[in-house]
Amino acid sequence: MPDVRIRPLREDDVPAVERVQETGFAALDARTLPRGRPLPPRRTPEENEPWAERARHLLRTDPEGCWVAEHGDGTVVGYALALRRETLWVLASFVVRPDAQGRGVGTQLLAAAAQHGRGCLRAMLSASADPAAVRRYRLAGFDLHPQMELHGHVDRALLPVVRHVRPGTEADRDLLDSLDRRTRHAAHGVDHALLARQLRLLVVDRPSAQGYAYVDASGSPRLLAATDRRTARALVWEALAASAPDVAVSVPHVTAANQWALDVGVEARLSVATAGYLAVRGLRPPAPYVHHGSLL
Ligand SMILES: CC(C)(COP(=O)(O)OP(=O)(O)OC[C@H]1O[C@@H](n2cnc3c(N)ncnc32)[C@H](O)[C@@H]1OP(=O)(O)O)[C@@H](O)C(=O)NCCC(=O)NCCS
Repeated sequence: MPDVRIRPLREDDVPAVERVQETGFAALDARTLPRGRPLPPRRTPEENEPWAERARHLLRTDPEGCWVAEHGDGTVVGYALALRRETLWVLASFVVRPDAQGRGVGTQLLAAAAQHGRGCLRAMLSASADPAAVRRYRLAGFDLHPQMELHGHVDRALLPVVRHVRPGTEADRDLLDSLDRRTRHAAHGVDHALLARQLRLLVVDRPSAQGYAYVDASGSPRLLAATDRRTARALVWEALAASAPDVAVSVPHVTAANQWALDVGVEARLSVATAGYLAVRGLRPPAPYVHHGSLL
């Protein structure tokens, strides 16, 4: 695409970038979801506000990791958002509008975002099932680990008694960062304030076992780290216990290194399906850990 230029993201680009993200993933779902699996409903701008808030957060914390591709007429046709936490580089989001794909725009965006990771020994991202994305990541030296997703309605009768899980507070931040370093070699640091604004925090803090999970309004865990599998299981059960009987929950981003999560899924009678890849460079898939889709 000759008349496309790559430039740093600005705050006033965020609504356009959010639309590129929504359009790109809706087209991807239509292309890649297994037959028989219903297409998720299209999201409204209001429903995408948490996503936009994350983009503005990254623009503040990592302006050098945030890039857009702009058409000659000023239209944003793609973007890449990356962050650096300690010595870990994370690709948070990367989309090119369907009508601009396959012409090298994604390659240029990824190269710009990757510059932000210079000097980082480790890198991770949660990849979609898009063959074009998978190709780019493998060419960039990432190892790809298939992800699974647990999904379904939780039968209240199957919930076990869970002890020692309590709501988390700001005073737990050092514990959360320590658990991050133990599992993924880098703290989430400033991202914990954003996560705590958007999600409910659960914590286990005992002398022999620690862990935390951020849980969304449906009872689905969105990020979890623990010292041991038993604590990780307790956190997922506590999350599922908050789900409404008529609302489906999901436990996304379960890698093969986290079989303990599959055990919870089996006991809770949730279905299991594969969904994209965890891509890592310089580290193994963390465990016991359920990564966040964009803050990893
Ligand atoms: C992934 C994405 C950002 C890439 O952007 P793009 O502008 O299409 O990327 P490029 O044109 O630079 O590169 C695409 C590469 O994939 C290849 N490709 C395209 N379709 C492919 C397919 N079906 N199988 C294998 N490779 C394919 C292209 O040949 C090209 O590789 P090459 O340059 O080595 O020949 C874009 O496709 C996209 O937005 N996908 C949907 C959202 C998504 O999955 N984002 C990634 C989330 S982690």
